[in-house]
Amino acid sequence: TTRLIRVNAQDPEPAAIAEAAALLRQGELVAFPTETVYGLGANALDAHAVRRIFEAKGRPANDPLIVHLASAAWLPRVVAALPAPVETLAARFWPGPLTLILPRAPAVPLEVTAGLETVAVRVPAHPVALALLHASDLPIAAPSANRFGGVSPTTAEHVWHDLAGRVACILDGGPTPIGVESTVLDLTASPPRILRPGGTPREALEAVLGTVEVWEGSAASAAQPSPGLLAKHYAPRARLTLVLGEDAEALLMRVVEEAQALCARGERVGVLLADEDARQVEALLPGVTLLALGPRDDLAEIARNLYAALRHLDAQGVTAIVTREFGRRGLGLAIRDRLRRAASQIITLDS
Ligand code: TXA
Ligand code: MG
Repeated sequence: TTRLIRVNAQDPEPAAIAEAAALLRQGELVAFPTETVYGLGANALDAHAVRRIFEAKGRPANDPLIVHLASAAWLPRVVAALPAPVETLAARFWPGPLTLILPRAPAVPLEVTAGLETVAVRVPAHPVALALLHASDLPIAAPSANRFGGVSPTTAEHVWHDLAGRVACILDGGPTPIGVESTVLDLTASPPRILRPGGTPREALEAVLGTVEVWEGSAASAAQPSPGLLAKHYAPRARLTLVLGEDAEALLMRVVEEAQALCARGERVGVLLADEDARQVEALLPGVTLLALGPRDDLAEIARNLYAALRHLDAQGVTAIVTREFGRRGLGLAIRDRLRRAASQIITLDS
């Protein structure tokens, strides 16, 4: 059975943290909030404990995990070398939603890295995650705390829905503030390469590093740097149609047309839009579950609400979801990436 322990997100109760830390040290699984999404944690130095993560998630063993650290001072426990930009990046972005791919130290079991000689590491910016790391004194391997392929959890209720009975404990620290996963940056590539856009914007990395490549692969690509980056992922049960393009008005009208066509075919339709757009087209979409994610120019709010909105539509029994991209600037790139991976159909409008 799974224990659900409520904790103060800003100032977590030491007794609750001590209990969760003890479970980790015994090789059990503990789900906990980070600033991005909830993680499903195990002792990263214990191969047996790590294998339980894959079982609980239904995740294939060839999909490597992120190792969470209390601070950059822990890097030598899990990485074999520190390439030049690490110190600068750590000072600028940690704690925070940036994961670095670095050479693996022998202490990290190959179960964590899916057999790779590199390891993904980050220092999370959440008081509960940091308290757990300090109290356990363990590097914590943690993927997002959802069943494999599904939508990542941004509340403890989401974790409970997916993993009750499969983990020893869930620390409930309320909704996660960023709402999309960390940016994964490969520092073993030159120039450094973003393998997954996320909470740390590309522009912020470029300000420090100069040129940064963004890997735009697909599951079909032989050059895929890690199997975990497969195309279909982060997906709700409902079929999602994503409209891509640059002309905001054309995007909105196409979303409306697609939603109307799906309704006409008898689908139960959900639509995700920015607040202003939702208000503009509300009257055109009777019978549609229309969710407003946040103001058009507040991508942080849109990112924060995205996963809960997808889960809400699934819970409502919606069979088809229609949405549009929110551009490629800042968090827009991460939102676009997740929507692309969640989509069954992508419509690209010419500009
Ligand atoms: O925000 C986050 O990153 C959340 C929280 C819990 O920290 N974690 C998360 O983990 O999203 P997960 O396992 O769902 O995604 C980890 C990503 C995968 O796409 C995986 O392929 C990639 O990181 N990754 C891990 N180790 C890697 C490696 N050695 N080389 C390349 N990619 C790696
Ligand atoms: Mg995940």
